[in-house]
Amino acid sequence: MSNAYDLLRSSARDLIAATGIAPATSIQLAEPKQRELADLAFAVFTIAKEQGQPAPAVAVRIADAIQTTGTLFRSVEAAGGFVNFKVDTGALATQLYADIAAAPDAFGHDPSLGAGQTIIVEYSSPNIAKKLHVGSLRTTVIGHSLYEIHKALGYNVIGDNHLGDWGTQFGYLLAAIEDSPTPPWEDAEPVASMMRMYAEFYQASEEDPDKKTRARAWFRKLEEGDVWARSIWQKLVDISMTEFDTIYERLGISFDTTLGESWFEPMLGPLVDDAIAKGVATIEESGAVSVHFDDKYPSCLLRKTDGATLYQTRDAATCIHRWNTYAPTRNVYVVGAEQRLHFQQVFEFVRRMGYTEIADCSVHVKFGMVTGANGERFKTRKGNVIFADEILDEAVRRATEKIMEQVESGRSEVSQPDDIVRVAEAIGLGAVIYFDLHQGPERNIAFDWEKILSFDGNTGVYLQYMYARCCNIVRKAGGVPDNVDSSVLTTDDERALVVQLSRITGAVRDAGARYAPSAIANWTFELAKDFARFYDRCPVLGADDPAVRDARVKLCDAVATGIKSGLGLLGIAAPDRM
Ligand code: ARG
Repeated sequence: MSNAYDLLRSSARDLIAATGIAPATSIQLAEPKQRELADLAFAVFTIAKEQGQPAPAVAVRIADAIQTTGTLFRSVEAAGGFVNFKVDTGALATQLYADIAAAPDAFGHDPSLGAGQTIIVEYSSPNIAKKLHVGSLRTTVIGHSLYEIHKALGYNVIGDNHLGDWGTQFGYLLAAIEDSPTPPWEDAEPVASMMRMYAEFYQASEEDPDKKTRARAWFRKLEEGDVWARSIWQKLVDISMTEFDTIYERLGISFDTTLGESWFEPMLGPLVDDAIAKGVATIEESGAVSVHFDDKYPSCLLRKTDGATLYQTRDAATCIHRWNTYAPTRNVYVVGAEQRLHFQQVFEFVRRMGYTEIADCSVHVKFGMVTGANGERFKTRKGNVIFADEILDEAVRRATEKIMEQVESGRSEVSQPDDIVRVAEAIGLGAVIYFDLHQGPERNIAFDWEKILSFDGNTGVYLQYMYARCCNIVRKAGGVPDNVDSSVLTTDDERALVVQLSRITGAVRDAGARYAPSAIANWTFELAKDFARFYDRCPVLGADDPAVRDARVKLCDAVATGIKSGLGLLGIAAPDRM
């Protein structure tokens, strides 16, 4: 596949190889931090050493032997032990515009990389009868972005929402509902009510062993298919899903498969028996079944004395089911770092059961905790634990305030109430999503409302604002001009912008390889900053020369495409007016 990114690198490599001074296999290209020096650089130290020559002399010989006429490069210079390439802005821009025209909604994507391969991205996976919390929001947002990134890399991606819809907690809830005069679904906030009922009953059961026995009995009945237990459980699932779906819809997320833990229940008995037969699991004196991992990990249970299975058992069955169904190249779990040991045990158990392929390609993408700005527990204004819907609402409320300020001071492009609502939603959600994704998933996040909604800085709204500005320029220019001559783009600011645009393909590949949406966030932020610098120093609509004006308008349009593509891979909307 020929895109600007690959062409630039293959062209530099070919030019170097053609000198005969460096063998093609030894040519590694780097993107120098000091961008005024070079757009691509080749460090000659290794080959100079092999040839027993001083590096600066080798660099000079290579640079002198390269002719850039008719290439994507404007100049090649030696500096110390480096051969520095600077791009020809016009030539690279022309290639970029061809890339964009070929796939306007897929700029920077590389569908060849994952072609023919399946990857499972399991994310969100909330617990039924509990509200989505800050951690749920993280897995949802990170997972959604990884989903989009892998789609952009051409994989057949299966987004899997592995609902926590099974386990003894449902016994407690059933017992609580049996006792209660009003069921949770008669409450205006049914899921919150389920949480409360569970918590109260659980607490009471700590002092009342009878309650515990009843709760266990109810879970057993549920497992055995008791009609009442099943019907109430189904109601809990349906009501919770309705609430979750509201949030998913708001975030523009849908899943390809939503099999809860309960779905795997029929596979667990045979799995445990098989594990015993294979000698992977041991029956303890108590009758419980466990797996011992020698010194590698602590042991874990597959079945309790009373016959109940565990979270681990269900995850192992899920993992094997995924292998049998999809034979994926990768099986990715976006789950909090605190479940590290759990996944280590599950993957190791699955491996010992003989499913080495899925064990090898299973990855736990761990994410850190979320706290309030002060590093303490993240709370609502009233001081309660904050849930996902409240975070989104608060972000949108604050975004609305900001837009209203803009509207009142005449600095906004939107004024109709519907538009304000739509843009505020995009900014509020974008702020929350970007704040999460611009840092690596493993980082802990301190949630600072002021920071996340700042108009200047590394924020979602800054990027959205730059996008809208590009769109505004193109609108004012009366659209993108035809037949632009990009050779008139000669400033360093224009060159930097074009080079940064070309790097999108590298960012998308890197994000996929490292499961790091932050690579996309960083690329988009750098692009927006380059655009801001360019816009500050290079008049666009006010350019004296009409050819320069046209070329710059076209460049602004490409920047808009780039920012929108980056934001899209992060799961963030880009309104074209703000
Ligand atoms: N439902 C679990 C929780 O909320 C997370 C599930 C993670 N995924 C998995 N395959 N275990 O803690």
